[in-house]
Amino acid sequence: MSTNQTLETIFSRMSYRGAFKDTPVPREDLVTILKAGIAAPSGCNKQTTSFVAVDDEIVLNELKEIFSKPSCQSAPAWILVFTQEIVGVDGNYYHVQDYGAAMENMLLAIKSLGYETCWYEGNVRNCAEEIAEFVKAPEGCRLVCVLPVGIPSDELPPRKIKKAFEERAWFNKYGAK
Ligand SMILES: Cc1cc2nc3c(=O)[nH]c(=O)nc-3n(C[C@H](O)[C@H](O)[C@H](O)COP(=O)(O)O)c2cc1C
Repeated sequence: MSTNQTLETIFSRMSYRGAFKDTPVPREDLVTILKAGIAAPSGCNKQTTSFVAVDDEIVLNELKEIFSKPSCQSAPAWILVFTQEIVGVDGNYYHVQDYGAAMENMLLAIKSLGYETCWYEGNVRNCAEEIAEFVKAPEGCRLVCVLPVGIPSDELPPRKIKKAFEERAWFNKYGAK
């Protein structure tokens, strides 16, 4: 594997669903993670993704009542990710791609700062509106994902096996041998 740090982070990232140490995540690190999300590309540069980092224990405990996924309960900080459906100058909507790019940037920033996380999207669908309302997100800003952030206290599970390179990537023609 390459010794390039960015590539090392990409290739070692994995979804962590274990418990977290109660060590707080310093504001400085949360700001870096949010800046990584903000730095992501966006269709027509519409910058449709916005974020709320939650590190206040009282607020976090309230949110943990709303979204009670066991693997998020011990995290000392959460990042809430919001999207806005804004049309681009070319008439297309790119907000889904925009938050996907922001998410991956943040996953990599979280990993490279020594924390673990998991992209929670499917599991938050039925409580997204309640979370958005609780943190006073404006109308039109839809909560799409929750990222717990913290230092893992469990062992990291084995990385998920990805399909073979030959099944997913080729040179010059799709499926070329
Ligand atoms: C759009 C999207 C939604 C996801 N939603 C959830 C979720 O709700 N709960 C969960 O445990 N993992 C969720 N994940 C994480 C995936 O399950 C995980 O990325 C996948 O199993 C591959 O594992 P890896 O991240 O370790 O490579 C989501 C990932 C993506 C990209």
